Amino acid sequence: MFFSGWGVKAKPLVGIDIGSSAVKVVSLRRAGNTYHLENLGIEYLPPDCIVDGVIISKLPVADAIARIFKSKAIRNKRIATSISGSSVIVKKIALPSQMEEELEESIQWEAEQYIPFDIGDVNLDYQIVGSTPEGNRLEVILVAAKREKIADQTGVISMAGKVCDVVDIDAFALQNVYEVNYEPQSTTVAALLNIGSSVMNVNILRGREFLFTRDIAMGGNHYNDFLQKELNISFEESENYKRNGAPTPELQRRTLATLASVSEILVLEVQKTLDYFKTTSRLEDIREIYISGGASRTPGFQVCLQEKFQIPVNFLNPFNKIKVNEKVFPPSSIEELASDFSIAVGLALRTTGR
Ligand SMILES: Nc1ncnc2c1ncn2[C@@H]1O[C@H](COP(=O)(O)OP(=O)(O)OP(=O)(O)O)[C@@H](O)[C@H]1O
Ligand SMILES: [Mg+2]
Repeated sequence: MFFSGWGVKAKPLVGIDIGSSAVKVVSLRRAGNTYHLENLGIEYLPPDCIVDGVIISKLPVADAIARIFKSKAIRNKRIATSISGSSVIVKKIALPSQMEEELEESIQWEAEQYIPFDIGDVNLDYQIVGSTPEGNRLEVILVAAKREKIADQTGVISMAGKVCDVVDIDAFALQNVYEVNYEPQSTTVAALLNIGSSVMNVNILRGREFLFTRDIAMGGNHYNDFLQKELNISFEESENYKRNGAPTPELQRRTLATLASVSEILVLEVQKTLDYFKTTSRLEDIREIYISGGASRTPGFQVCLQEKFQIPVNFLNPFNKIKVNEKVFPPSSIEELASDFSIAVGLALRTTGR
């Protein structure tokens, strides 16, 4: 399931990232060792279609998917998509060294202690990634996701007339897009943060080695909530103030002050997560942070993170090493939104032999 679909012969898949504010679709073509952007599309969703990661109304989401495929003339119907949030558990665990076949049988039992839901309600997958430094235990990445969550997401994609070949995890898609675009050094510990409307995906890795992930149930909506209350404005106005600024200097001053106080809250949550990671790992400090997702562009957020952690905080560019034909995709049309496509690019990469 989560770890399948890799391999040189893998068929190209279209990446679909279903976010609570928009559906993003990306397809890539591989020529030799180079990836080319083939297609990309975004359709915004009405508010309240997806709430706290749960798809409340399926039809508008399926319609949005179908509209992108139609308007962009995407003919490939085979899809890679991803899930995140509280119905998904991803953990790196150490198990007694044992034969792989034995693990196949014991994993269910081993997994139970790490999964806060009924084991009968989840899809389970694992990958052996190595052995502990002492060499006596296997390091395994365990992934468990509620069946209901997977069914909701794949159901919406089938409603749009497409076939879901791969269901990935947001954090893995993020790691994938980072690795291809930044070819990290083997010893650098980096944190990747994708900040959407309702969820922040955190992924910590050393070089290309996955170490830790957690989803924080906060994002761009938090800024809207505070602005709406503070300035007594509608959701649409708060969205406009965040992106384009407020209409008067006084309102702009209050907007920036509110955004700054919410950034503090979000950054504090990130700090708690990074601190938790540090206390549970024996590893050196995180050296750099890459941010992506719509809410990472909130004025002041990047600086707030940088000041808190005193390490470089960069915007992740999912097209850093991917060739983009400027005649087909003018820079002005994708530059600003590029980082919002990080997960969708990571999913599309999953297909082309990676
Ligand atoms: N220029 C901007 N400044 C501030 N916020 C922005 C900007 N552009 C987008 N956003 C915010 O980013 C969020 C949308 O980002 P994104 O598309 O990554 O989320 P999503 O994938 O739909 O949500 P999720 O993954 O949390 O379900 C919204 O909260 C939106 O207000
Ligand atoms: Mg998202």
